[in-house]
Amino acid sequence: MRVGVLTGGGDCPGLNAVIRAIVRKGVQSYGYGFTGFRDGWRGPLEGYSMPLDVPSVRGILPRGGTILGSSRTNPLTLDGGVRRIRENLAKDEIDALIAIGGEDTLGVASRLWGEYGIRCVGVPKTIDNDLSATDYTFGFDTAVNIATEAIDRLHTTAESHMRVLVVEVMGRHAGWIALHSGLAGGANVILIPEQRFDTAQVCAWVESRFQVRYAPIVVVAEGAVPRDGELVLKDGSRDAFGHVRLSGVGEWLAKEIERRTGKEARTTVLGHIQRGGTPSAFDRWLATRFGLHAVDAVRDGDWGTMVALRGTDIVRVPLDTATAKLKTVSPAEYAEAEVLFG
Ligand code: F6P
Repeated sequence: MRVGVLTGGGDCPGLNAVIRAIVRKGVQSYGYGFTGFRDGWRGPLEGYSMPLDVPSVRGILPRGGTILGSSRTNPLTLDGGVRRIRENLAKDEIDALIAIGGEDTLGVASRLWGEYGIRCVGVPKTIDNDLSATDYTFGFDTAVNIATEAIDRLHTTAESHMRVLVVEVMGRHAGWIALHSGLAGGANVILIPEQRFDTAQVCAWVESRFQVRYAPIVVVAEGAVPRDGELVLKDGSRDAFGHVRLSGVGEWLAKEIERRTGKEARTTVLGHIQRGGTPSAFDRWLATRFGLHAVDAVRDGDWGTMVALRGTDIVRVPLDTATAKLKTVSPAEYAEAEVLFG
């Protein structure tokens, strides 16, 4: 059996740990051969591959990024995309593919198996932790740790100048990074995409914090949108999913807080720092287990499935339903955090 492996979509700490686990178990336990496809679906589409064996995955466990490279190429939107993939898989004598990615990459894997019979197994990844089929995705814990450390650091500089510090974290459609890092870092306000925020209420929380002589930290997810309809219509744009977004919400909010409260405010946008560098121990553990179980799914011929974490168990779920629904923060979970605001 020869198995192709690819990583697609935005990179994420833990991808190399998955690749390593797949190759080591596949070679040592089942005698499989592996081919690494470069740059997500671009690899099998263009026959862009590299050898993948035990020596080539040595030492990569703690490394961020992906040794295979990544892209957002979608072969299903290209003329003859599926035919080219078939030809390149045949040329390299590939029997099956393990695709490691988020909803787009796994959506392609699901259709390649479901509609075209190309054998695929999926491994979920996203720092946003917004895939409903799995309790956690690797990369999320690392991102939360990085954001929490940033919030800890921003507390001390905010206090020194008695300023408001707004921290913008990743999360286009789900506020998991904002919620977890905000709670862990003791933020005074947390704003998420799932609940439109009221700027007047944010300013009231900010002012109440100053009244007890502490400087407030506001954590805002990049996809959070103010309720103030006029501003959204003027500045908001729609992303690829049709969601309204205020680009640069952190910057906008800091200016608005200054204007309304008269307090000095600054913004820190964490951006891709949340995705780079070495994975946390939890993410290495989860990524390694996902890799080990993905090889078992190949051994069992369980095509069209994705590995997922349920409690402490790794299970398999059908790819088509796994990517269908986003996991978002519920109103109850947000309300639980809200009692600490201000
Ligand atoms: O989906 C993961 C994610 O990190 C989002 O939180 C973020 O909006 C997006 O990727 C940014 O991706 P890129 O800059 O690679 O297009």
